[in-house]
Amino acid sequence: MAQETKGAAVNGKAYTIVDHTFDVVVVGAGGAGLRATVGCSQAGLRTACISKVFPTRSHTVAAQGGISASLGNMGPDDWRWHMYDTVKGSDWLGDQDSIEYLCRNAPDAVYELEHWGVPFSRTDEGKIYQRPFGGMTTDYGKGTAQRTCAAADRTGHAILHTLYGQAVRNNTNFFIEYFALDLMMNEEGRCVGVVALDQTTGEIHRFRAKMTILATGGYGRAYFSATSAHTCTGDGNAMVLRAGLPLQDMEFVQFHPTGIYGAGCLITEGARGEGGYVTNSEGERFMERYAPSAKDLASRDVVSRAMTMEIRAGRGVGRNKDHIYLHLDHLDPKILHERLPGISESAKIFAGVDVTKEPIPVLPTVHYNMGGIPTNYHGEVLTLKDGNPDTVVPGLMALGEAACVSVHGANRLGSNSLIDLVVFGRAAGLRCAEILTPNDKHADLPKNADELALSRLDRFRFAKGGTPTAQLRLEMQKTMQNNCAVFRTGEVLAEGKDLIHKVWSGAGDIKVTDRSLIWNTDLLETLEFDNLIGQAVVTMEGALNRQESRGAHAREDFPNRDDTTWMKHTLAWLDDHSHKTAIDYRPVHTYTMSNEIQYIEPKARVY
Ligand code: FUM
Repeated sequence: MAQETKGAAVNGKAYTIVDHTFDVVVVGAGGAGLRATVGCSQAGLRTACISKVFPTRSHTVAAQGGISASLGNMGPDDWRWHMYDTVKGSDWLGDQDSIEYLCRNAPDAVYELEHWGVPFSRTDEGKIYQRPFGGMTTDYGKGTAQRTCAAADRTGHAILHTLYGQAVRNNTNFFIEYFALDLMMNEEGRCVGVVALDQTTGEIHRFRAKMTILATGGYGRAYFSATSAHTCTGDGNAMVLRAGLPLQDMEFVQFHPTGIYGAGCLITEGARGEGGYVTNSEGERFMERYAPSAKDLASRDVVSRAMTMEIRAGRGVGRNKDHIYLHLDHLDPKILHERLPGISESAKIFAGVDVTKEPIPVLPTVHYNMGGIPTNYHGEVLTLKDGNPDTVVPGLMALGEAACVSVHGANRLGSNSLIDLVVFGRAAGLRCAEILTPNDKHADLPKNADELALSRLDRFRFAKGGTPTAQLRLEMQKTMQNNCAVFRTGEVLAEGKDLIHKVWSGAGDIKVTDRSLIWNTDLLETLEFDNLIGQAVVTMEGALNRQESRGAHAREDFPNRDDTTWMKHTLAWLDDHSHKTAIDYRPVHTYTMSNEIQYIEPKARVY
């Protein structure tokens, strides 16, 4: 129950503190957060879901092309083929026990969504419509699979609204427009809840919980051009770093091949799934040279690299020869209207293009973070302790893009993110039901439970430096875009490390003009910048350290994958006070979950 303490003080400045006690608190109301919330509520656990935006504005709403599951509605399919494709897509950095869990549970997760009311597009027989996406095959690489279940090109919108309805139906306690500040950790390293700022009243809320679930999304906004919403600042990842825990595989940043040139808005891979293709300035369908078999439906890292090489070779299109064309103009307008209405509209608004007549100018654009908070397939957060990299952090889970399960490894296949949200959101609910007893006793709150959150809030609220947050954010975004992009070299990354550390140090001189705690966008953007910069630093350093090419991490100075030395996950820690970082590694799980499928041995990755 909520309990209020007026006038708690940190550094002599008073805050109004409101205390709550729940069995479970979920931070984030996107697909993963809402699916976990529904599961925990259904298990009879008192569950709170806190979100910095209204739930149906969470970034899942922007997912377009679909959700993968081997339903086999358009031809033969099998969860084992889905698993094979996902392992290959991950360039053998994915944990195969988790990938098995994802792919074998995917069909049931999609049927559950269907039963809950997701308005999927339909085949003539009334089955869920499925389209082909990149890297998806039948029979372990032999044919093309149509595995991506779609609600036109607004699948995330349909799923998010349905899940929100289910959460309301299951009496979830929502705390909307609450900005999560920091985790509350006790001396034993157990997470005992989270501290948040109510943006509408300026009150501080302490949510005490037996399980805190971070489903706070990715940190695409560390980059200048991203398909991610402005809210994608990886707040949960940053809270984990500040709690002294590591993030995993942060150097693996996915560039989606088709962001609208100049605007960054997503044009779904479903556009190529429906028959679209890319061309260079010579009108050539160049993907035939780079991926003779899969062509435009090779995996995203392969297509993004091919586009970048064409531009570098002087075969880009436009006045500055700095982008590529995506053609849909040969497709039947009826298909465009039925299957791709959203991107037809985006192309018109953001590129001034009528897709029935002209190609869309596109460019590889930051889209997804494969890295994040390390977890097992129950969603439990892992850390390296006493030499054991699979040590569970009690009281803490992570899901969705915030997490690194790791099912996507070095490169995620399109439409594997929506399925990740609901499969692991459900898994977390099941795990909570198994290990928590409703209304059971809570661990004691440590004496200074909110100290970390409030001293940081104070630091920025009363920051009187000379550098506006917007300036530092721009420097960070430009550095990441220039120095940690599709292709990387040791030299460019080393320069990037210096530059990003400079931005990090520059935060000591940050200027926040408004001290209010109510709807203070300057303060909130500063807190978000502070979250982003730590993640940017560990991303750059992880990339500099990894001397090989794997998936989305393409080093021109180390062009080959090196399984002997580098088939391992990066773990990165960061200390905000000393500005020190540390990197270690943990082995990839080279085993499956059951004996129904064997470990898939690494081999060359060609499409
Ligand atoms: O291209 C898309 O529709 C994006 C899907 C995804 O990232 O999974």
